[in-house]
Amino acid sequence: MPVVRPILTFEHPALREKAKKVTRVDVSIQRLLDDLTETMLDAPGAGLAANQIGVPLRVCVVKGDDKQIWGLVNPELVKKEGAQVGYEGCLSYPGWVGEVERAETVVVKGRNRHGKEIRVKSTGFTARAFQHELDHLDGILFTDRLTSLDTLRRVEELIGEDKEEAVAAASG
Ligand code: NI
Repeated sequence: MPVVRPILTFEHPALREKAKKVTRVDVSIQRLLDDLTETMLDAPGAGLAANQIGVPLRVCVVKGDDKQIWGLVNPELVKKEGAQVGYEGCLSYPGWVGEVERAETVVVKGRNRHGKEIRVKSTGFTARAFQHELDHLDGILFTDRLTSLDTLRRVEELIGEDKEEAVAAASG
């Protein structure tokens, strides 16, 4: 059964290390993908990288706009187009959001839970989540990419009735 794992927060040094490539997609990687999915949905968030739960491997999950969940092993950005600027949060930075510029459309290549190579094209929110998780695997946090430090604020300061939902959707 998948397990909800504790999520490390920003001061943890593991979040600043570059995660290692997976050499073989086996049952331990499948379990890791299942735990990442369970933990992301529980949080709730839009994505989660393995090093956020203390596993230093290049594995992440992303929840798409259409609720589809992508589990990727050794993900790589192979194409990016356009730009979007918007508020973004991080499950390792609970309670905080900031403005980050990302590509509007990305293509990510990686292996699925069966070791098969796949390519995922995404736009908007989902593309933002992919870029956020790929950054995590390189030890980069969204706070490194703020358009300005002045945009970093508490979730409570965001205006709008659906702010909690919006922030959950934008956190990975
Ligand atoms: Ni994050």
